[in-house]
Amino acid sequence: MTATQLEFAQHPSASPRTEAEREAILANPGFGNHFTDHTVVVDFTVDDSGEGGWGNARLEAYGPIAMDPAAAVLHYGQEIFEGMKAYRHADDSIWTFRPEANAARLNRSAARLALPQLPEEIFLESLRQLVAADKEWVPTRDGESLYLRPFMIATEAFLGVRPAREVSYRVIASPAANYFGGELAPVSIWVSRNYARAGRGGTGAAKCGGNYAASLAAQLEAEAHGCKQVLFLDQFNNNAVEELGGMNVFFVFKDGSLVTPSLSGTILEGITRSSIIQLAQDRGLNVQERTITLDEWRDGVGSGEITEVFACGTAAVITPIGELKDGDDVISAPDPSAGEVTMSIREQLLGIQTGAVEDPHGWLTRL
Ligand code: COI
Repeated sequence: MTATQLEFAQHPSASPRTEAEREAILANPGFGNHFTDHTVVVDFTVDDSGEGGWGNARLEAYGPIAMDPAAAVLHYGQEIFEGMKAYRHADDSIWTFRPEANAARLNRSAARLALPQLPEEIFLESLRQLVAADKEWVPTRDGESLYLRPFMIATEAFLGVRPAREVSYRVIASPAANYFGGELAPVSIWVSRNYARAGRGGTGAAKCGGNYAASLAAQLEAEAHGCKQVLFLDQFNNNAVEELGGMNVFFVFKDGSLVTPSLSGTILEGITRSSIIQLAQDRGLNVQERTITLDEWRDGVGSGEITEVFACGTAAVITPIGELKDGDDVISAPDPSAGEVTMSIREQLLGIQTGAVEDPHGWLTRL
Protein backbone atom coordinates (compact mmCIF):
# COMPACT_ATOMS: atom_id res chain seq x y z
CA MET A 1 0.00 0.00 0.00
CA THR A 2 1.34 3.38 -0.92
CA ALA A 3 1.43 6.03 1.84
CA THR A 4 -1.05 8.86 1.30
CA GLN A 5 0.75 11.27 3.64
CA LEU A 6 4.47 11.75 4.13
CA GLU A 7 6.79 13.74 6.37
CA PHE A 8 8.98 16.01 4.24
CA ALA A 9 12.62 16.05 5.41
CA GLN A 10 14.05 19.57 5.40
CA HIS A 11 17.36 20.18 3.61
CA PRO A 12 17.13 23.90 2.88
CA SER A 13 19.52 25.58 0.49
CA ALA A 14 22.89 26.40 2.04
CA SER A 15 23.28 29.33 -0.37
CA PRO A 16 19.91 30.90 -1.16
CA ARG A 17 19.98 34.06 -3.31
CA THR A 18 20.37 37.28 -1.37
CA GLU A 19 17.45 39.66 -1.04
CA ALA A 20 19.10 41.96 -3.59
CA GLU A 21 19.53 39.11 -6.08
CA ARG A 22 15.92 38.04 -5.62
CA GLU A 23 14.63 41.60 -6.00
CA ALA A 24 16.61 42.01 -9.23
CA ILE A 25 14.91 38.90 -10.64
CA LEU A 26 11.47 39.95 -9.40
CA ALA A 27 11.91 43.34 -11.08
CA ASN A 28 11.66 41.63 -14.46
CA PRO A 29 10.71 37.97 -14.12
CA GLY A 30 9.42 37.26 -17.66
CA PHE A 31 8.08 33.72 -17.94
CA GLY A 32 10.00 30.53 -17.14
CA ASN A 33 13.40 32.18 -16.89
CA HIS A 34 14.21 32.10 -13.19
CA PHE A 35 13.70 29.52 -10.46
CA THR A 36 13.39 29.80 -6.72
CA ASP A 37 15.91 28.53 -4.16
CA HIS A 38 14.21 25.19 -3.42
CA THR A 39 12.61 22.15 -4.93
CA VAL A 40 10.54 19.33 -3.48
CA VAL A 41 11.21 15.68 -4.33
CA VAL A 42 9.34 12.45 -3.60
CA ASP A 43 10.57 9.08 -4.88
CA PHE A 44 8.56 6.08 -6.01
CA THR A 45 10.15 2.65 -5.89
CA VAL A 46 8.93 -0.90 -6.37
CA ASP A 47 10.12 -3.41 -3.77
CA ASP A 48 11.12 -7.06 -4.31
CA SER A 49 7.55 -8.22 -3.86
CA GLY A 50 6.49 -5.93 -6.71
CA GLU A 51 4.72 -3.50 -4.39
CA GLY A 52 5.28 0.17 -5.23
CA GLY A 53 5.16 3.14 -2.90
CA TRP A 54 6.13 6.79 -2.44
CA GLY A 55 8.76 7.79 0.11
CA ASN A 56 11.89 9.84 0.84
CA ALA A 57 9.92 13.09 0.59
CA ARG A 58 12.17 16.09 1.00
CA LEU A 59 12.62 19.79 0.48
CA GLU A 60 16.07 20.54 -0.87
CA ALA A 61 18.12 23.21 -2.64
CA TYR A 62 17.17 23.86 -6.26
CA GLY A 63 19.85 22.41 -8.53
CA PRO A 64 20.72 19.94 -11.28
CA ILE A 65 19.29 16.42 -11.05
CA ALA A 66 21.83 13.59 -11.00
CA MET A 67 20.37 10.89 -13.21
CA ASP A 68 21.61 7.70 -14.81
CA PRO A 69 22.09 8.25 -18.58
CA ALA A 70 19.91 5.16 -19.08
CA ALA A 71 16.97 6.68 -17.16
CA ALA A 72 13.75 5.84 -19.02
CA VAL A 73 12.62 9.48 -19.20
CA LEU A 74 15.67 10.31 -21.31
CA HIS A 75 14.89 7.62 -23.88
CA TYR A 76 11.16 7.03 -23.93
CA GLY A 77 9.85 10.33 -22.59
CA GLN A 78 7.92 8.77 -19.70
CA GLU A 79 7.09 12.12 -18.11
CA ILE A 80 4.08 14.22 -17.09
CA PHE A 81 3.67 17.65 -15.55
CA GLU A 82 1.25 20.24 -14.24
CA GLY A 83 1.09 24.01 -14.40
CA MET A 84 -0.40 26.10 -11.59
CA LYS A 85 0.22 29.36 -9.80
CA ALA A 86 0.56 30.79 -6.28
CA TYR A 87 -0.91 34.27 -5.80
CA ARG A 88 -0.07 36.81 -3.10
CA HIS A 89 -3.17 38.51 -1.72
CA ALA A 90 -3.36 42.04 -0.34
CA ASP A 91 -2.92 40.77 3.26
CA ASP A 92 0.26 38.89 2.19
CA SER A 93 -1.38 35.46 2.44
CA ILE A 94 -0.54 33.07 -0.41
CA TRP A 95 -3.14 31.03 -2.26
CA THR A 96 -3.40 28.64 -5.13
CA PHE A 97 -6.26 27.90 -7.50
CA ARG A 98 -8.13 24.57 -7.71
CA PRO A 99 -5.13 22.40 -6.74
CA GLU A 100 -7.37 19.33 -6.38
CA ALA A 101 -8.15 19.65 -10.09
CA ASN A 102 -4.43 19.65 -10.90
CA ALA A 103 -3.88 16.65 -8.62
CA ALA A 104 -6.66 14.77 -10.41
CA ARG A 105 -5.36 15.70 -13.85
CA LEU A 106 -1.81 14.68 -12.89
CA ASN A 107 -3.19 11.27 -11.99
CA ARG A 108 -5.13 10.98 -15.27
CA SER A 109 -1.92 11.85 -17.12
CA ALA A 110 -0.03 9.33 -14.95
CA ALA A 111 -2.49 6.58 -15.87
CA ARG A 112 -2.01 7.33 -19.60
CA LEU A 113 1.79 7.37 -19.35
CA ALA A 114 1.88 4.25 -17.11
CA LEU A 115 3.30 6.24 -14.20
CA PRO A 116 2.20 5.67 -10.58
CA GLN A 117 -0.74 7.48 -9.00
CA LEU A 118 0.30 10.23 -6.57
CA PRO A 119 -2.04 10.60 -3.57
CA GLU A 120 -3.71 14.04 -3.56
CA GLU A 121 -2.48 14.79 -0.04
CA ILE A 122 1.17 14.30 -1.07
CA PHE A 123 0.60 16.57 -4.08
CA LEU A 124 -0.96 19.31 -1.91
CA GLU A 125 1.71 18.99 0.77
CA SER A 126 4.46 19.26 -1.86
CA LEU A 127 3.05 22.66 -2.90
CA ARG A 128 2.74 23.83 0.71
CA GLN A 129 6.33 22.80 1.43
CA LEU A 130 7.80 24.58 -1.57
CA VAL A 131 5.81 27.78 -1.16
CA ALA A 132 6.57 27.89 2.59
CA ALA A 133 10.29 27.72 1.83
CA ASP A 134 10.18 30.18 -1.08
CA LYS A 135 7.35 32.53 -0.08
CA GLU A 136 9.52 35.61 -0.65
CA TRP A 137 9.58 34.64 -4.33
CA VAL A 138 5.82 35.11 -4.78
CA PRO A 139 5.57 38.38 -6.74
CA THR A 140 3.63 41.32 -5.34
CA ARG A 141 2.85 43.15 -8.59
CA ASP A 142 -0.47 42.97 -10.41
CA GLY A 143 -0.60 40.31 -13.09
CA GLU A 144 2.36 38.39 -11.64
CA SER A 145 2.44 35.16 -9.67
CA LEU A 146 4.68 32.27 -8.73
CA TYR A 147 4.29 29.61 -11.42
CA LEU A 148 4.43 26.12 -9.90
CA ARG A 149 5.57 23.23 -12.05
CA PRO A 150 4.96 19.79 -10.50
CA PHE A 151 6.33 16.96 -12.68
CA MET A 152 6.93 13.23 -12.61
CA ILE A 153 9.78 11.48 -14.42
CA ALA A 154 10.81 7.85 -14.94
CA THR A 155 14.28 7.57 -13.40
CA GLU A 156 14.89 3.82 -13.60
CA ALA A 157 18.01 2.92 -15.60
CA PHE A 158 16.62 0.33 -17.98
CA LEU A 159 16.38 0.31 -21.76
CA GLY A 160 13.63 -2.28 -22.16
CA VAL A 161 10.34 -0.66 -23.05
CA ARG A 162 8.12 -1.09 -19.99
CA PRO A 163 6.86 1.22 -17.24
CA ALA A 164 9.76 2.31 -15.04
CA ARG A 165 9.93 0.95 -11.49
CA GLU A 166 11.73 4.02 -10.19
CA VAL A 167 10.06 7.37 -10.58
CA SER A 168 10.66 10.81 -9.15
CA TYR A 169 7.99 13.44 -8.48
CA ARG A 170 9.27 17.00 -8.15
CA VAL A 171 8.04 20.56 -7.92
CA ILE A 172 9.91 23.66 -9.04
CA ALA A 173 8.71 27.27 -8.95
CA SER A 174 9.33 30.27 -11.14
CA PRO A 175 8.21 33.88 -10.67
CA ALA A 176 6.09 34.76 -13.69
CA ALA A 177 4.75 37.77 -15.57
CA ASN A 178 2.78 37.67 -18.84
CA TYR A 179 3.51 34.43 -20.75
CA PHE A 180 3.77 36.30 -24.06
CA GLY A 181 5.99 39.03 -22.61
CA GLY A 182 5.26 42.71 -22.06
CA GLU A 183 1.74 43.98 -21.49
CA LEU A 184 -1.33 41.96 -22.40
CA ALA A 185 -1.93 42.24 -26.16
CA PRO A 186 -3.85 40.17 -28.72
CA VAL A 187 -1.73 37.29 -30.05
CA SER A 188 -1.39 36.15 -33.64
CA ILE A 189 -1.90 32.48 -34.42
CA TRP A 190 -0.55 30.30 -37.23
CA VAL A 191 -2.68 27.41 -38.51
CA SER A 192 -0.63 24.24 -38.65
CA ARG A 193 -1.46 22.38 -41.86
CA ASN A 194 1.63 20.16 -41.84
CA TYR A 195 1.56 18.81 -38.32
CA ALA A 196 -0.98 17.32 -35.92
CA ARG A 197 -0.60 17.55 -32.15
CA ALA A 198 -2.47 14.39 -31.23
CA GLY A 199 -4.57 11.59 -32.68
CA ARG A 200 -7.42 9.41 -31.44
CA GLY A 201 -6.22 7.10 -28.68
CA GLY A 202 -2.96 9.03 -28.37
CA THR A 203 -1.73 11.16 -25.49
CA GLY A 204 -3.44 14.44 -26.45
CA ALA A 205 -5.51 14.61 -23.26
CA ALA A 206 -2.49 13.95 -21.04
CA LYS A 207 -0.19 16.71 -19.89
CA CYS A 208 3.01 15.02 -20.98
CA GLY A 209 6.21 16.52 -22.33
CA GLY A 210 5.87 14.61 -25.62
CA ASN A 211 2.79 16.61 -26.62
CA TYR A 212 4.69 19.84 -26.21
CA ALA A 213 7.77 18.47 -28.00
CA ALA A 214 5.46 17.47 -30.86
CA SER A 215 4.18 21.05 -31.10
CA LEU A 216 7.62 22.62 -31.53
CA ALA A 217 8.16 22.13 -35.27
CA ALA A 218 4.77 23.76 -35.86
CA GLN A 219 5.65 26.49 -33.37
CA LEU A 220 8.82 27.23 -35.37
CA GLU A 221 6.69 27.50 -38.49
CA ALA A 222 4.40 29.91 -36.66
CA GLU A 223 7.31 32.08 -35.56
CA ALA A 224 8.71 32.10 -39.10
CA HIS A 225 5.39 33.61 -40.15
CA GLY A 226 5.43 36.23 -37.42
CA CYS A 227 2.95 34.41 -35.13
CA LYS A 228 3.19 33.76 -31.40
CA GLN A 229 1.31 30.45 -31.22
CA VAL A 230 0.19 27.60 -33.42
CA LEU A 231 -3.32 26.22 -33.88
CA PHE A 232 -3.81 22.50 -34.39
CA LEU A 233 -6.74 21.11 -36.38
CA ASP A 234 -8.28 17.66 -36.63
CA GLN A 235 -7.76 17.00 -40.33
CA PHE A 236 -9.89 13.87 -40.08
CA ASN A 237 -12.88 15.84 -38.80
CA ASN A 238 -13.46 18.73 -41.24
CA ASN A 239 -10.53 20.69 -39.81
CA ALA A 240 -12.15 20.96 -36.40
CA VAL A 241 -10.30 23.37 -34.12
CA GLU A 242 -8.37 21.44 -31.44
CA GLU A 243 -6.11 23.66 -29.36
CA LEU A 244 -3.05 25.86 -29.51
CA GLY A 245 0.45 24.60 -28.71
CA GLY A 246 -0.24 24.98 -24.99
CA MET A 247 -3.66 26.62 -24.59
CA ASN A 248 -7.38 26.02 -25.15
CA VAL A 249 -9.51 28.24 -27.40
CA PHE A 250 -12.89 29.97 -26.90
CA PHE A 251 -15.23 31.81 -29.31
CA VAL A 252 -17.72 34.50 -28.24
CA PHE A 253 -20.80 34.68 -30.47
CA LYS A 254 -23.00 37.73 -31.05
CA ASP A 255 -26.03 35.79 -29.76
CA GLY A 256 -24.43 35.45 -26.31
CA SER A 257 -23.08 31.93 -26.67
CA LEU A 258 -19.59 30.88 -25.77
CA VAL A 259 -18.17 27.95 -27.74
CA THR A 260 -15.10 25.83 -27.04
CA PRO A 261 -14.00 22.57 -28.66
CA SER A 262 -15.36 19.55 -26.81
CA LEU A 263 -13.06 17.19 -24.94
CA SER A 264 -12.65 14.62 -27.66
CA GLY A 265 -9.73 12.85 -26.02
CA THR A 266 -7.19 14.68 -28.18
CA ILE A 267 -7.18 18.03 -26.35
CA LEU A 268 -6.11 18.95 -22.86
CA GLU A 269 -8.81 19.38 -20.23
CA GLY A 270 -7.66 22.81 -19.10
CA ILE A 271 -8.49 23.91 -15.56
CA THR A 272 -8.69 27.50 -16.79
CA ARG A 273 -10.97 26.19 -19.54
CA SER A 274 -13.35 24.53 -17.08
CA SER A 275 -13.29 27.59 -14.78
CA ILE A 276 -14.24 29.86 -17.69
CA ILE A 277 -17.11 27.52 -18.60
CA GLN A 278 -18.40 27.75 -15.01
CA LEU A 279 -18.04 31.54 -14.77
CA ALA A 280 -19.75 32.00 -18.14
CA GLN A 281 -22.63 29.75 -17.09
CA ASP A 282 -22.94 31.77 -13.87
CA ARG A 283 -23.42 34.85 -16.08
CA GLY A 284 -26.16 33.12 -18.04
CA LEU A 285 -24.12 32.67 -21.20
CA ASN A 286 -25.05 29.73 -23.37
CA VAL A 287 -21.86 27.64 -23.16
CA GLN A 288 -21.41 25.02 -25.83
CA GLU A 289 -18.67 22.42 -25.85
CA ARG A 290 -18.85 21.24 -29.42
CA THR A 291 -17.00 20.81 -32.69
CA ILE A 292 -16.12 24.12 -34.29
CA THR A 293 -14.32 24.03 -37.61
CA LEU A 294 -11.86 26.43 -39.17
CA ASP A 295 -14.51 27.26 -41.81
CA GLU A 296 -16.98 28.22 -39.06
CA TRP A 297 -14.31 30.45 -37.51
CA ARG A 298 -13.59 32.15 -40.87
CA ASP A 299 -17.27 32.50 -41.82
CA GLY A 300 -18.33 33.55 -38.31
CA VAL A 301 -15.79 36.36 -38.18
CA GLY A 302 -16.71 37.37 -41.73
CA SER A 303 -20.43 37.57 -41.00
CA GLY A 304 -20.00 39.16 -37.58
CA GLU A 305 -21.52 36.13 -35.77
CA ILE A 306 -18.24 35.56 -33.92
CA THR A 307 -17.31 38.69 -32.03
CA GLU A 308 -14.31 37.58 -29.95
CA VAL A 309 -11.79 34.72 -29.89
CA PHE A 310 -9.43 34.03 -27.00
CA ALA A 311 -6.83 31.56 -25.78
CA CYS A 312 -6.63 30.36 -22.20
CA GLY A 313 -4.42 28.35 -19.89
CA THR A 314 -2.69 28.66 -16.55
CA ALA A 315 0.30 30.39 -18.10
CA ALA A 316 -1.66 32.42 -20.68
CA VAL A 317 -4.60 33.17 -18.31
CA ILE A 318 -7.02 34.59 -20.91
CA THR A 319 -5.38 36.21 -23.93
CA PRO A 320 -7.32 37.68 -26.87
CA ILE A 321 -6.50 36.23 -30.28
CA GLY A 322 -5.71 39.02 -32.71
CA GLU A 323 -5.34 37.38 -36.08
CA LEU A 324 -5.21 33.88 -37.48
CA LYS A 325 -2.90 33.18 -40.42
CA ASP A 326 -3.71 30.19 -42.60
CA GLY A 327 -1.03 30.31 -45.27
CA ASP A 328 -1.68 33.54 -47.15
CA ASP A 329 -5.22 33.78 -45.83
CA VAL A 330 -5.55 36.05 -42.78
CA ILE A 331 -8.59 35.98 -40.51
CA SER A 332 -8.44 39.21 -38.54
CA ALA A 333 -9.80 39.62 -35.05
CA PRO A 334 -13.48 40.53 -35.24
CA ASP A 335 -12.71 43.91 -33.71
CA PRO A 336 -9.39 44.12 -31.93
CA SER A 337 -10.58 47.00 -29.80
CA ALA A 338 -13.67 45.16 -28.57
CA GLY A 339 -13.06 41.98 -26.53
CA GLU A 340 -15.60 42.97 -23.91
CA VAL A 341 -16.57 39.43 -22.85
CA THR A 342 -12.98 38.21 -23.00
CA MET A 343 -11.69 40.99 -20.79
CA SER A 344 -14.58 40.82 -18.36
CA ILE A 345 -14.13 37.07 -17.74
CA ARG A 346 -10.37 37.59 -17.51
CA GLU A 347 -10.82 40.27 -14.86
CA GLN A 348 -13.19 38.09 -12.85
CA LEU A 349 -10.91 35.06 -13.03
CA LEU A 350 -7.81 37.06 -12.07
CA GLY A 351 -9.85 38.82 -9.39
CA ILE A 352 -10.80 35.47 -7.82
CA GLN A 353 -7.23 34.20 -8.02
CA THR A 354 -5.75 37.31 -6.44
CA GLY A 355 -8.44 37.71 -3.79
CA ALA A 356 -9.81 40.96 -5.25
CA VAL A 357 -13.29 39.59 -5.92
CA GLU A 358 -15.52 36.94 -4.36
CA ASP A 359 -14.60 33.29 -4.94
CA PRO A 360 -18.14 31.91 -5.45
CA HIS A 361 -17.06 28.31 -6.03
CA GLY A 362 -14.45 27.98 -3.26
CA TRP A 363 -11.65 27.52 -5.80
CA LEU A 364 -8.86 29.01 -3.69
CA THR A 365 -6.69 27.02 -1.28
CA ARG A 366 -4.38 28.75 1.15
CA LEU A 367 -0.80 27.51 0.98
C1 COI B 1 0.38 26.07 -18.53
O1 COI B 1 -0.41 26.91 -18.96
O2 COI B 1 0.59 25.95 -17.32
C2 COI B 1 1.12 25.18 -19.42
O3 COI B 1 1.60 24.19 -18.99
C3 COI B 1 1.28 25.57 -20.84
C4 COI B 1 2.63 25.99 -21.25
C5 COI B 1 2.46 26.71 -22.56
C6 COI B 1 3.37 26.84 -20.31
